[in-house]
Amino acid sequence: MSDTFPPSAEMAANAHVDAAKYDQMYAASIADPEAFWGEHGKRIDWMTPYTQVKDVSYDFGNVGINWYADGTLNVSANCVDRHLATRGDQTAIIWEPDSPTDPSLHITYNQLSASVNKMANVLKDLGVGKGDRVVIYMPMIPEAAYAMLASARIGAIHSIVFAGFSPEALAARVQGSEAKVVITADEAPRGGRNTPLKANADKALATCDASVQCLVVRRTGGEVAWDDARDRDYNALSAAASDVCAPEEMNAEDPLFILYTSGSTGMPKGVVHSTGGYIVYASMTHEIVFDYKDGDIFWCTADVGWVTGHSYIVYGPLANGATTLMFEGVPTYPDASRFWQVCEEHKVNQFYTAPTALRALMGQGNSFVEKCDLSSLRLLGTVGEPINPEAWNWYNEIVGGGRCPIVDTWWQTETGGHLMTPLPGAHAMKPGSAMKPFFGIEPVVLEPTTGAEIEGNDVEGVLCIKDSWPGQMRTVWGDHERFEKTYFSDYKGYYFTGDGCKRDADGDYWITGRVDDVINVSGHRMGTAEVESALVAHPKVAESAVVGYPHDIKGQGIYCYVTLMGGEEPSEELRKELRTWVRTEIGPIASPDLIQWAPGLPKTRSGKIMRRILRKIAENDYGALGDTSTLADPSVVDDLIDNRMNR
Ligand code: WTA
Repeated sequence: MSDTFPPSAEMAANAHVDAAKYDQMYAASIADPEAFWGEHGKRIDWMTPYTQVKDVSYDFGNVGINWYADGTLNVSANCVDRHLATRGDQTAIIWEPDSPTDPSLHITYNQLSASVNKMANVLKDLGVGKGDRVVIYMPMIPEAAYAMLASARIGAIHSIVFAGFSPEALAARVQGSEAKVVITADEAPRGGRNTPLKANADKALATCDASVQCLVVRRTGGEVAWDDARDRDYNALSAAASDVCAPEEMNAEDPLFILYTSGSTGMPKGVVHSTGGYIVYASMTHEIVFDYKDGDIFWCTADVGWVTGHSYIVYGPLANGATTLMFEGVPTYPDASRFWQVCEEHKVNQFYTAPTALRALMGQGNSFVEKCDLSSLRLLGTVGEPINPEAWNWYNEIVGGGRCPIVDTWWQTETGGHLMTPLPGAHAMKPGSAMKPFFGIEPVVLEPTTGAEIEGNDVEGVLCIKDSWPGQMRTVWGDHERFEKTYFSDYKGYYFTGDGCKRDADGDYWITGRVDDVINVSGHRMGTAEVESALVAHPKVAESAVVGYPHDIKGQGIYCYVTLMGGEEPSEELRKELRTWVRTEIGPIASPDLIQWAPGLPKTRSGKIMRRILRKIAENDYGALGDTSTLADPSVVDDLIDNRMNR
């Protein structure tokens, strides 16, 4: 049995939820979800209070998810306006720039209100209205948060594209969401280097509808090309705009945002989140899971380009009137002490990051941590991938000084907020375990082939969720059929997570990783199909298959099998060229780690690539290949083993 770390007496006594309260609230949430969520929906200010709470069908062919459906509200009013009377002068956002020698900013709720209202008016003047889409392609600067809240204020649907994505990826998302406006910045400083965001947006917009406008925020003041017909100067427009803009009254089920994420097949899909249920769930999980209390300084190190940044940098914290820290830089710039220096300087109380960052920092030695005063820290969190016990122990002892509970939060872009995590005052943590479901979440472990529920403890299978929760995604943008097919067709009557899990002898959950063709590289979700389609778009590539393999720092690395066109010769140079090619097609996060030249790929007689075999070879576990007799040409496997890259 693994070590367990029970909450300290002090934590248990002071936390929002202790063990007894968890048991009582969890039981109530499952016994009567209507009553439970009816009560907790009141944490949000409604323009028209709801009378209906839950209206959900998981029936394949007829999936519909509705929460608080007759209520109306505005999310920006909940994140900004409702705090002005009580905490207008409190800091809402602490902004820490890329370079530690540049000044940080403290933006009060009053200032946030003025900036959000101004940007809302700027967007309105550009012709953006309720239901229109706004793509946000921004550095981690306060204007990114203003852009999100300004869109929400006027009822527009935002879709953030991570600033590390290529022009091609940006263009696909602008086209996919049929956006009216792209908000970007001149350049994005990160780790001392500037990414030319405006130039990327120019390239992307060249392939989009000519009516798409580009609103440009000045961050570095660097030179940018300017097209008077399309480009708009945010700084000038916002200086002239009024700081009063009435919040649009939105239905609870109106979309708040679209966020593209990778799936096991095809191109990324636009995950659609709602207005009412999402904000209830993001704010409640933020408060309870992080044990957030008034006056705390909360820091989530994610980028707003990912769902973690949506829910736990912007929406959850601001709905709770919190002080949220937004960091523009990277953990290792100027050196491996940066995270800890920022914690010391801003007296951070809750710190939330990804295991990949911890593994990278752990490798640099303890002195980078130990020279900083981390006594303000009260709680630590992780997200994005399973955390290995070594990294967990290091986080606990070296960063947390053995005093801070670690919440290992398992969730997904699709779920809007945490679904499983230990609660800091309630549960004895186990390194590497996501432990317990949040309120209202009923995890089930299914037998992968039959789909039968596996009862009892000490079992393993695929992870599904039995019933809905308010933060759940509602549909795939423009493709409800794909939504039903992806999440509700393999295991009828359940939400299928795509993850495998174990339920241990105590009934606690351990996520074992994806069971589909999604890989998790440095906590970034990547579809192997996307990398494959980028590779085969190269003129010298005939075919490719991409799988994940274990990587010490990244969690998983990207392993590509590539079959060249007849007559093309493999070379180191071509390897480099293909790497650069994929980076340009998708972005640096998709850069292949290993490329193996494969004269042939293992296929069934019907032509289906046997990825199971490729995965095993990439994992250097080819002793366990299993049955290869159904292959059209079993001999290709020997060649792949002989020439494997991951020895
Ligand atoms: C994985 C990120 C283990 C999982 C919020 C999931 C995790 C995918 C954890 C979603 C965790 C996330 N332990 N695995 N604590 N958190 N994952 O959509 O495979 O970027 O399905 O959302 O990350 O990634 P996404």
